[in-house]
Amino acid sequence: MKWDSNVYDDKHSFVAEYGKAMLDLVNRAQGQKILDLGCGTGVLTNELAKQGATVIGTDLSPDMIKTAQSNYPHLRFQVADATQLPFDNEFDTVFSNAVFHWIPNQKQLLHSIQRALKANGMLVCEFGAKNNIAQIQTAFEQVTGKRGYCYTSPFFFPAEAEYRLLLEQAGFAVMHCIEYDRPTPLADGEKGLHNWLCQFFVGDLQTFSEEEKSEILRETAELCRSSIWKSQQWVADYRRIQVVAVKKP
Ligand SMILES: C[S@@+](CC[C@H](N)C(=O)[O-])C[C@H]1O[C@@H](n2cnc3c(N)ncnc32)[C@H](O)[C@@H]1O
Repeated sequence: MKWDSNVYDDKHSFVAEYGKAMLDLVNRAQGQKILDLGCGTGVLTNELAKQGATVIGTDLSPDMIKTAQSNYPHLRFQVADATQLPFDNEFDTVFSNAVFHWIPNQKQLLHSIQRALKANGMLVCEFGAKNNIAQIQTAFEQVTGKRGYCYTSPFFFPAEAEYRLLLEQAGFAVMHCIEYDRPTPLADGEKGLHNWLCQFFVGDLQTFSEEEKSEILRETAELCRSSIWKSQQWVADYRRIQVVAVKKP
C-alpha cells in the first residue's frame, strides 16, 4: 500500500497515540539501543528517544521516512523493509506499533528481527488480532462483491495462540502475549469512516470509477452504521494483539 504521510498525520494520528501505551513495556535502562520498526512519521520514535534511548526509525515507505526526518531532524531514520533489515546483533529492543499486520511473510519478519536483536534482546509490538475490523471488512466485501469485485483481506490478523507458536518457532521466549478489544473512535464525525476506508482500502478502491467509489463508501458506511456508529462518531471495531518476547541466546 502507498502511504501518504500528510494524510496519515492529519487523519490517523490516533494510531501513534494508542501506541504510546506500549512505551511502558520498553526497558528504560541507560544506554538502550532501540529500533522503531515501521516508524511511520516518527511520533513514537521521538517518544522512545525522549525516554533516553538511542533510537533508529525504519520504514518501507520513503514518504513516511522523509516526513519523519523533517519532523525530527535530530533522530536517525532510514528506509528499510522489515523482512530484510540491514542489522546484525545491534539492538536491545525492537519496538513496533501497528505494522506487523501489513506483512504477509511473518516467518521472514521474525527471522529478520531475530538477526537485528542482541542475545536476550526484546521484541515489543502491537498490531491487529483475529477479528480486527471484522464489521468493516465484512461490509466492504459485501458492497464491492455486489459489483463483481472479490475483496481479499491483505491483513495478517492472528489469534494469540497462533502467534505465540510462531514466536516460539522463531526462537523467542514469550513473556507476554494478549489479545484485547480496543474500540477506536475515528476523528471527523460522519466523515471518519470515509477517511479511514480511503486510507486503508486505497488499493481496492482505485480499481473503481469515482462514481462507483462514492457509492461503495456510502453503502459500506450504511451497512456498518448499526454496529459501529456510536453517538455522533464512528468507533472502529479494533482488536489488538500485544507481545513482549525475548530473543533466546
Ligand atoms: C499504520 S502505520 C504505523 C506507523 C507508526 N508505527 C505509528 O505508530 O504511527 C504502518 C506503517 O508500517 C509500514 N510498513 C508496512 N509494511 C512494512 C514493511 N514490510 N517494512 C517496514 N515498514 C512497513 C508502513 O509504511 C507504515 O508507515
